[in-house]
Amino acid sequence: MTKKIIIAIDGHASTGKSTLAKTLAQQLNYVYIDSGAMYRAVTLFAVKNNLNAEQIIDHLDEISISFDVSGQVFLNEENVSEEIRGMRISERVSEFAAIAPIRHKMIQIQQGYGKDKGVVMDGRDIGTAVFPEAELKLFMSASPEIRAKRRFEELKLNQDVSYEEVLKNILDRDEKDSSRKINPLRKATDALVIDNSHQSKEEMLQYALKLVEKALN
Ligand code: CDP
Repeated sequence: MTKKIIIAIDGHASTGKSTLAKTLAQQLNYVYIDSGAMYRAVTLFAVKNNLNAEQIIDHLDEISISFDVSGQVFLNEENVSEEIRGMRISERVSEFAAIAPIRHKMIQIQQGYGKDKGVVMDGRDIGTAVFPEAELKLFMSASPEIRAKRRFEELKLNQDVSYEEVLKNILDRDEKDSSRKINPLRKATDALVIDNSHQSKEEMLQYALKLVEKALN
């Protein structure tokens, strides 16, 4: 049987983690898990049900999150892939992601996805808390302006949003995600830093594939 590994990709908001993780998984025939989508789905549940950070703790059993093979995200069987990307959710997600019982539930599910290896997972705490033993850990970064510009170009196709709002949200989430008490966003000591400010998606992929090859040998 061919050896399979766990690839953990962490980093600040909108650094291209998902794009790299998705294409890597396709190339390697691995499972791709977008852990951020899980926190976004929980946030959507809270927003829809008018629950604040304290109230949601009593409702965690009512939340089921799943992915299909193409990476679409389902919240209680409903496809919410588009809805969770909206600014309404981006503006609240870091607040809900800081709540301990929510993180415990998500981490348990995420670790389940990794039990047979062959998984690429992206997020904030994958290399530090979810899979500290991952064979390959990447930490992605890029300047806030470049990140905001890329995210704005994506979002403006579907919603009424300004570049300034996107930049503000990215900086706000970085700050909240890095300063929370439980599993804050940190580079794992053994993670390789990738700055993709000036690299194309294809260059990133080729570089990461070389790192995978090394990790496999
Ligand atoms: O794609 P983007 O960088 O905008 O963010 P995301 O990966 O969709 O994550 C959305 C939010 O979920 C983050 O800002 C964090 O608050 C939270 N998150 C987390 O706390 N831990 C993770 N492993 C992944 C996401």
